[in-house]
Amino acid sequence: MLQVIITLYAACAILLLPATCLGWLPENHVALFVFGDSLLDAGNNVYLNNTSPKVNYYPYGETFFKHPTGRVCDGRIVPDFIAEYAKLPFIRPYLEPGFSNHTDGVNFASAGAGVLPETRPGTIHLKLQLSYFGEVVKRLRQQLGDEDAHKLLADAVYLFSMGGNDYMTVYTDSGSSVLKKTFVTMVLGNFTAVVKEVYALGGRKFAFQNVGPIGCMPATRESSGMDGCLDGLSELARMHNIALSKLLRKLAYQHAGFSYALFDYYTSLTMRTQYGSKFGFKEGESACCGSGAYNGNFTCGGQGGTAKYNLCGDPSKYVWFDAAHPTESANKQLANLLWNGPAPVVGPYNLKTFFNAHPC
Ligand SMILES: *[C@@H]1O[C@H](CO)[C@@H](O)[C@H](O)[C@H]1NC(C)=O
Ligand SMILES: *[C@@H]1O[C@H](CO)[C@@H](O)[C@H](O)[C@H]1NC(C)=O
Ligand SMILES: *[C@@H]1O[C@H](CO)[C@@H](O)[C@H](O)[C@H]1NC(C)=O
Ligand SMILES: *[C@@H]1O[C@H](CO)[C@@H](O)[C@H](O)[C@H]1NC(C)=O
Repeated sequence: MLQVIITLYAACAILLLPATCLGWLPENHVALFVFGDSLLDAGNNVYLNNTSPKVNYYPYGETFFKHPTGRVCDGRIVPDFIAEYAKLPFIRPYLEPGFSNHTDGVNFASAGAGVLPETRPGTIHLKLQLSYFGEVVKRLRQQLGDEDAHKLLADAVYLFSMGGNDYMTVYTDSGSSVLKKTFVTMVLGNFTAVVKEVYALGGRKFAFQNVGPIGCMPATRESSGMDGCLDGLSELARMHNIALSKLLRKLAYQHAGFSYALFDYYTSLTMRTQYGSKFGFKEGESACCGSGAYNGNFTCGGQGGTAKYNLCGDPSKYVWFDAAHPTESANKQLANLLWNGPAPVVGPYNLKTFFNAHPC
């Protein structure tokens, strides 16, 4: 009998081995905190009292919510799918009036925002998102006590998507490679400072969506005026992404307990743009909603009735909903990869591992 128990125990220990080294406890409540730009904004910009981009009008939101929510999409965005898979409610925007119970997490993302404050003044740039997170940490400590707040913050997942707007704002075709390198270093220097600060406040499980193919969106194809991509702009994204991957290895090496999932959003979205039909799409290059070449002009929704625009009948057949943002159906595929994709698309961890860590 004893031997059977010992054997069972040993088998169990071996099966659980991959997760044991992480030291996460079973049945944890895992919250989701989201920092980012329009790809992750669940509605914060709608509450800004300035001229920052807001999409609180039809046809944004038409597919899933049946009304505009501030998401720059026809339906759900990546953090919505991650929340569903993690059995959390949709993570609400920090600025939503009356939202004060933050135990499931908070979404700080803001359409148009960059890492650098000067990128799009008026939006919630990354440092401001960090200061809002600081307020949330204070409130959680008051609400739960130091010990439980500490545990919630250590178990939580911190999802980031940032940088694309910084590069799109400064891009000119003539930018030399030295200047590009200096700028990427500056963006990532500021980005790292914020990630380190979240770590200092107790964060341990980080997820990063790298910068997408910003030179190959319908908007950039339209403005290139030559039926192609702006490769110089995508090059900035690639430089950022290579440096980001090195930087994260270094952060993990230097900071005890720092673990991360790096999602290759750039490649995943590029593949869908180039080979749409392989992924179930009818159209990979042109947007569902907008005007001009590739529907690449930002007129989706008509800008208050002043602009004419085209709207496709079935957004699920398109990779891009508007000139710069994927459709819900593309977001779902991307979220699936972030959730349980294999290396090298996502690694060293994926989000499923982060949310469903097994007992030690
Ligand atoms: C916007 O203005 C309203 C009304 O004055 C105020 O309650 C709210 O806090 C402001 N929102 C932001 C994000 O400043
Ligand atoms: C806050 O939300 C959590 C999770 O949804 C819930 O269990 C808890 O009771 C809520 N707390 C308060 C004070 O409403
Ligand atoms: C952060 O960005 C500012 C410009 O907003 C720049 O002056 C500074 O050098 C950057 N910091 C780092 C650590 O790169
Ligand atoms: C699209 O935008 C460009 C540049 O702003 C403009 O020249 C062009 O006329 C627009 N096309 C349509 C169809 O709105």
